[in-house]
Amino acid sequence: MKWPKRLFIKKQVQTDLYRKTGLEKTLTAFSLTTMGIGAIVGSGIFITPGLIAANYTGPGVMLSYLIAVVVCAMAALCYSEFSSTIPLAGSAYTYVYAVFGEFVAWILGWALISEYLFAVSSVAVSWSSYFQNLLAGFGLKLPAFFQAAAGTAGVKGGGIDVVALIITMLVAWLLSKGIRESARINNIMVVVKILVILLFIGIAIFYVKPANYKPFLPFGTSGIFKGAAVAFYAYIGFDAVSTASEEVKNPKRNMPIGIISSLLVAAVLYISLSAVLVGVVHYTKLNVADPVALALTLVHQNWASGIISFGAIVGMTTVLIVMSYGGTRLLFAISRDGLLPAALKRLNPKTHVPVANTWIFGMVASIFAALIPIDKIAELVNIGTLSAFAMVSLGIVFLRHDERFKNLDTAFKVPWYPYLPIASFLACVYLMTQLQAFTWAAFGVWVVLGLIVYVSYGYRHSQVRAKTSR
Ligand code: ALA
Repeated sequence: MKWPKRLFIKKQVQTDLYRKTGLEKTLTAFSLTTMGIGAIVGSGIFITPGLIAANYTGPGVMLSYLIAVVVCAMAALCYSEFSSTIPLAGSAYTYVYAVFGEFVAWILGWALISEYLFAVSSVAVSWSSYFQNLLAGFGLKLPAFFQAAAGTAGVKGGGIDVVALIITMLVAWLLSKGIRESARINNIMVVVKILVILLFIGIAIFYVKPANYKPFLPFGTSGIFKGAAVAFYAYIGFDAVSTASEEVKNPKRNMPIGIISSLLVAAVLYISLSAVLVGVVHYTKLNVADPVALALTLVHQNWASGIISFGAIVGMTTVLIVMSYGGTRLLFAISRDGLLPAALKRLNPKTHVPVANTWIFGMVASIFAALIPIDKIAELVNIGTLSAFAMVSLGIVFLRHDERFKNLDTAFKVPWYPYLPIASFLACVYLMTQLQAFTWAAFGVWVVLGLIVYVSYGYRHSQVRAKTSR
C-alpha cells in the first residue's frame, strides 16, 4: 500500500451487522433527554454565567448562551446523522475513522480526549468550590494554599485545589469498581438539579434590581461572541448521548429528538438563570467560582444558598461520572484499534472494567484539576470540543458521498443539506477564533504531543492497517 493511502486508511464498518446483533433497543426519546440533561447541566450553569458576565459580556450574558445553543444545535444534528448511520462505540472518533481515515480520526480522538479530560477537571474544580462553600456554612475552612490552584481569581495564596483532586480520584475509584450511574439514579439527580435551579430563580427574582442591567453590554457586542465561545462549555455533554445509539428504539426519530430537546431544556434553564443572576448581583462582582450561591448569600438567603450548593454538588457529580466514563471508553476504543498502548484496553476479568485506563485517566484529570485555574480549564475543554464538532460537521458532506452509507433508510438526515453542516463547521471555527491566545498555545502543544504519540506508537501498531495489509 502506498504511503498517503496508509496514513488515511479507513475503518471498515459493517453497519447492517451491527444493527442486527446490537444491544437491546430500549431507549426512548424521553430517556435520551433525561440522559442528556444529566450529562449537560453541571458547572456550566453553576459557575460559568458569573465568569462570562464579569469578563466578557456584563449583564448581556444570556445573549452568549443563546448564540452558543444555536451552534450546538447545528452540531447536534450532524451528530445525530452520524450516530444513526454508524451506531458504534467510540462516537465521533469511530465515525471519522470510517469516513476520513486513520490520521484524521487520530487527531479527532486526541482532541476528544482533551475534551473529556478537561471537562472532568473543570467540573471537579467547580464541585470543589461549592463543596467548600457548604463547609464554610459549618464554619470550616481549608488553608488558602489548599483551596484553589495558584492564580485563581478571588483566592489569595492559592496553590493546589485539594478537594478537586480528591473528588476526581474518588470518581475514578467508583468507575474502577464497575459502578456506573444507573438510569434511575441519573433521573433522580436530574430532578434535583432542575428543582435547585428553579428554586434559585424563584427566590432571586424578587431581588432583581433593574439598575444592575445598565449598561447592558459594557464590553461591546464583540464581548457577546467571546462569551458565546465560553458559554459553549455549558452545553457540552450532548455528544455523550450519541454513544448510546446502539440501544435506541427507532434512532432515526428518537436520537435527534433526544439530543435537541435536552439542549433546549438546558438553554431555557441557562438563559433564565443568568438573566436573574446579573439582575441580583452587579456583574463586576461575579468573577467567583460559586456565583449562584454568592447571589443568595448577598441577599441574606443563607439557607437557600446551602440548598443550592448541595444541589449543585449533586448535579455536578453526574457530569463527573458521565464524562469520566466517556473518556475512559474513548481511550478504550482507541487502544482497541492499536493506536494507544494495549494496557488501556485491558479489562478486569470480573468487573469487565478497563481498570488501568480508568486510573490513568483519573490521575491525569486530577492533576489538571488541582493545578490549573478554572477559567483556563473551561476554555481548554472548548477548543478540543469545537475542533471535534467542526470535523464532525464537515464529515457529513463526505458521509453523503460515501457509497457504503448513501442509501441507508434507517439513518436520520440533517435538514438543509449542505448548508447546515457547512454553517455548523464555520460557526465552530469562528468560536474557536474567539478563545484566548493561551488556550490556542496550550491546544497547539496538545496536538504536537498527539502527533508524537501517533508517529512513535499508533502508526506502527494500527490494527486496521495490520488487517488490511495481511
Ligand atoms: N456541560 C458540562 C457542564 O456544564 C461540561 O458541567
